[in-house]
Amino acid sequence: MRKQGSAYDMAPSSNHLPGDYWQSHYDSMAHHESLDLFDAEARDYFARLERVVPLGDFEQVLDFGCGLGFVSELLATRVGSLFYWDYSENMLETARTRLADTANARAIDLSCPDEDQADFFDLIVINSVIQYMSEDDLSQWLNRWRGMLNGDGVLVISDLILPQPAFLKEVRDSLLFSAREGFLVRTLLKNFAQYARYLKVRRDAPMTRYSKERFAQLAENSGFSVSFLAENLTYRTNRFSAQLRPVSV
Ligand SMILES: C[S@@+](CC[C@H](N)C(=O)[O-])C[C@H]1O[C@@H](n2cnc3c(N)ncnc32)[C@H](O)[C@@H]1O
Repeated sequence: MRKQGSAYDMAPSSNHLPGDYWQSHYDSMAHHESLDLFDAEARDYFARLERVVPLGDFEQVLDFGCGLGFVSELLATRVGSLFYWDYSENMLETARTRLADTANARAIDLSCPDEDQADFFDLIVINSVIQYMSEDDLSQWLNRWRGMLNGDGVLVISDLILPQPAFLKEVRDSLLFSAREGFLVRTLLKNFAQYARYLKVRRDAPMTRYSKERFAQLAENSGFSVSFLAENLTYRTNRFSAQLRPVSV
């Protein structure tokens, strides 16, 4: 596993891949940020997910890239057993603390591909994570998720960013969401520094974008059939979500 560090301690150098910037960003975030917006975003995502996926039907569920654990906490109220993982050690630790008293939730370590349990999960959810991986990393993870899912399992990937730049639309969606949740002024003031840091990392390490066609091609290469959801599972309207199911061989 990668050693700990902070995006703000780590001087950008040619040795750092874009994924390193994001991992460091998330490592430092658990300690720096105001968390109420992330909590609200998690509740909004979970409500949308519940409308399209019958969560109560699933026994073994993985929240991949669990972040601060807000979504994991909600998922655990509906599913049999909830497993969570994040490559940022600080994020994982924060999630672990949040879920310490949740009897059916457990952190797992996916840092070593050799230790993947085959056919284990019924459902894997991955929200707002794929954009921080390179396309090669995504292909490798698709293969691993395919191996970890049982034959009837489902993978729900959300918040994939389309190739067309839509910065103003993102800002608008963000402000509308904040206003709906009742913290517009607070968001503008309190979260300004955090948003500026996020934009800086985003400039240094652009997020990976996919057309639906390209994403479907990668998923199919890894043995999945793909269906796109009518709406994204977050409030960001320039992004999309998909359900993937293993194709039987
Ligand atoms: C925007 S947050 C989303 C957190 C959570 N899924 C949610 O919906 O609240 C992105 C998270 O993905 C994690 N992440 C990014 N790339 C990852 C990877 N390759 N493996 C595991 N976690 C990853 C980051 O550390 C971060 O916690």
